[in-house]
Amino acid sequence: MTPDLLQKGAQRVAEHAKLVSQSTESGGRSAGYGRVVQDANEVDVTHGRILYLEDVSVSFDGFKAINKLSLDIAPGELRCIIGPNGAGKTTMMDIITGKTRPDEGSVFFGSTIDLLRHNEPEIAQLGIGRKFQKPTVFEHLTVFENLELALKTHKGVKASMFFKLDSAQSDRLAEVVHTIHLAGSVSTLAGVLSHGQKQWLEIGMLLMQDPKLLLLDEPVAGMTDHETERTAELFLTLKGQHSLMVVEHDMSFIRTISDIVTVLCDGSVLAQGTLDQVQADERVIEVYLGR
Ligand SMILES: Nc1ncnc2c1ncn2[C@@H]1O[C@H](COP(=O)(O)OP(=O)(O)O)[C@@H](O)[C@H]1O
Ligand SMILES: [Mg+2]
Repeated sequence: MTPDLLQKGAQRVAEHAKLVSQSTESGGRSAGYGRVVQDANEVDVTHGRILYLEDVSVSFDGFKAINKLSLDIAPGELRCIIGPNGAGKTTMMDIITGKTRPDEGSVFFGSTIDLLRHNEPEIAQLGIGRKFQKPTVFEHLTVFENLELALKTHKGVKASMFFKLDSAQSDRLAEVVHTIHLAGSVSTLAGVLSHGQKQWLEIGMLLMQDPKLLLLDEPVAGMTDHETERTAELFLTLKGQHSLMVVEHDMSFIRTISDIVTVLCDGSVLAQGTLDQVQADERVIEVYLGR
């Protein structure tokens, strides 16, 4: 793709974003979501939920890391998850993505897809993307090449060698690079990016696959204040177009991005509500915020 095409794509995207943000107060939640429901292999969200966990438990050597956990998320929602170390936040993401099998309970993607019947790669294919804490970009490749590579991951070596972006993919790349604040660095080697920029690039690589649900585990850990603020902006942009589940300890970040906050403790939900509501909850103060 030529820089010229990239720029045109970015312009189209910027214009579209302007239209969307004018059309609704929330920055286009329903407008953005419309794109998701048009997809052919659609996740059935007619019941208003994209992810359901019900009575999920898992033990490691007799220790209940997840204990009758029930939780659900609406399409386009940005759900924040907080809780003390060892609460089971990462294990919950391991269960959703098929990395860990629960001992009991059910996990559904929309109302029809039973995630417990699928393995890790299948779950990624279904449209659940996951960002681990440590960035894992290809340092010797450029920003552009990293994003391009994200589209090839399911192809064989030979197919990858002759892989060329089609125009929809070029547009997608232009859109993503703009969203992740790296439009000015497409030719930069990933290895020289700052820690925060690497995190954005990895989020961008997930976005190339257009996931319906994105799970992000401590995304702003190790970021500068400025990078944290830009990440908050990024997540607010993604909200509505994707459903997001964000685990974080940084409360000012949570305050900026959150609608509903779920507090996990000892493997189940201790409290849920706005950040103010959960911060005022005595049980939450006791186990977590008061420490
Ligand atoms: N694969 C595992 N084997 C044994 N214990 C585990 C494993 N994964 C997590 N745990 C334990 O489960 C509990 C929850 O861990 P985790 O989900 O990482 O918590 P959080 O992400 O909320 O800090 C911890 O006590 C942890 O030591
Ligand atoms: Mg964790």
